[in-house]
Amino acid sequence: MLIAALQTSHAIALGLIAGAFIVFALVVALVIPRYRPDFPGENGLKPFLACCVVLFVATLVAVELFAGEPAESEASGSTETTATTGTGATTAPTTTQPAGGIPTKGKELYTSLGCVGCHSLDGTSGTGPTFKGLAGSQVKLSDGKTVTADDAYLAKSIADPDAQVVAGFQPGIMSAVIKQGAVSEAEIADLVAFIDTQK
Ligand code: HEC
Repeated sequence: MLIAALQTSHAIALGLIAGAFIVFALVVALVIPRYRPDFPGENGLKPFLACCVVLFVATLVAVELFAGEPAESEASGSTETTATTGTGATTAPTTTQPAGGIPTKGKELYTSLGCVGCHSLDGTSGTGPTFKGLAGSQVKLSDGKTVTADDAYLAKSIADPDAQVVAGFQPGIMSAVIKQGAVSEAEIADLVAFIDTQK
């Protein structure tokens, strides 16, 4: 509450000072010259320049004090520190992307990232295993283990293709195209959500 109140009063103060500067500039540029064409004239020049400098500095100081401080307190008060870049003025919506990705986005990524070249959706085995029926199935790995293809397994298979290699396939093929860590976490969530829909 206190921070919110401070921010509001800071915004008003900043608005007043910046507004004063703008009004001053408009008045001296448009209004006064109508009545005094020689404005500011020899006598008025010094006070006029002093006014300009004072307002200019006041605006700079106001921006520094009032615009900078709330942004910082906002950043330090925020619990999602991962999103605070630079001044912290922009709060990236990191928490709005939960574990569940968006299947339609995943379908686009499946094409745009080139997964389509190695993974079919119709059950035929290509350079890589098909995505059809993959989610939730038992996958035999080249080390003899069998794992359930849950979301965590799928995500890991995309993030680090060579960590677990499917039996009958070679390591290094997918990772040659999909570099480890090249696909972002959000993209992986979308891709996994898409694979989940391929029953
Ligand atoms: C150059 C071919 C190639 C490309 C491109 C490729 N993969 Fe693969 N992928 C493979 C091969 C080969 C395997 C099996 C070996 C392994 O497990 O690493 C595999 C395995 C997988 C697995 C585990 C499959 C299973 O049956 O357990 C998933 C999930 C997967 N890839 C997702 C993707 C996604 C998503 C993309 C696009 C971002 C992609 N792959 C791009 C070749 C490819």
